[in-house]
Amino acid sequence: MKIHHLLCASLLAASGFSSVHAADEVTAMSDMVRASGCFSCHSVTEKIVGPAFQSVSAKYAGDKDAVANLMQSVRNGSVGKWSSRVAMPAHPSLSNDDLKKLVTWVLAQKP
Ligand code: HEC
Repeated sequence: MKIHHLLCASLLAASGFSSVHAADEVTAMSDMVRASGCFSCHSVTEKIVGPAFQSVSAKYAGDKDAVANLMQSVRNGSVGKWSSRVAMPAHPSLSNDDLKKLVTWVLAQKP
């Protein structure tokens, strides 16, 4: 029985089972972004009130301080960094952990 399970696990891993798992994580992340209200002003591909998340990711590509800086922008709010004069409101109730997950996800949105 045990050996069978081990075999199954390695077969599943070899057959790309881990990508199913990754897809679950992607869904969980967009649920989290939705639940945090980000999609009322942002979309991944289009500018709405705020910049497209793909544009954010492109702008900060290669910036090693991007995660920390964007966590600040989302937590404290932001205005004037993008062309519009509309401000992003502060999100003081998000935990550091959640901010980091959200911002890391935003930075992973490549065109
Ligand atoms: C009420 C509208 C609104 C909501 C809600 C909102 N944003 Fe924004 N967001 C904006 C605007 C407007 C900007 C551009 C701000 C600027 O020009 O500095 C922006 C900018 C950003 C940036 C780039 C900041 C920078 O420093 O360049 C990130 C990252 C971001 N938003 C992520 C998020 C996340 C994650 C959420 C959800 C927790 C969220 N936003 C919710 C309107 C919003």
